[in-house]
Amino acid sequence: MVEHLIVDKGSRLEKYQQLLPQLDALIAAESDLIANLANVTAAIQQTFKFLWVGFYRVQGDELILGPFQGPIACTRIKIGAGVCGRAWIDNRIIVVPNVDEFEGHIACSSASRSEIVVPICDEAGEVKWVLDIDSEKLNNFDQTDTDNLQKLARILSNLL
Ligand code: SME
Repeated sequence: MVEHLIVDKGSRLEKYQQLLPQLDALIAAESDLIANLANVTAAIQQTFKFLWVGFYRVQGDELILGPFQGPIACTRIKIGAGVCGRAWIDNRIIVVPNVDEFEGHIACSSASRSEIVVPICDEAGEVKWVLDIDSEKLNNFDQTDTDNLQKLARILSNLL
């Protein structure tokens, strides 16, 4: 049942280890990309209680807001702008331990203190979406998040 897809016990690594196979199965059962991305944001937000979890879609020379959970966010981000735009053009995961120290950080919420952005690429390796996760805690993302969200990005790339 879908409502059981909330992991609320264990370390962050243990939560990812439970969550990722469940997300994989959930996605396999639904062909609609937006529906799947929406459930992915809900599952991550419910599991880890992050401030904001959402996707931005590459559209021309900007990113446009997609499915998300959390406070209202900026709808368009220009190429190269902010953490999201930088992760897009560099095609790499960016971890920001302190958003105040990232030049050009776009503050959609003043409560955000740290952030991770993960590019989602198609089969050709081209970035089509980015996954952005914001936390109210400083330095709240580490190698565990990078490794596991990279795995999630691979799962999601199969949908593109
Ligand atoms: N902080 C992001 C903008 C998106 S919001 O945080 C939801 C950035 O600097 O790209």
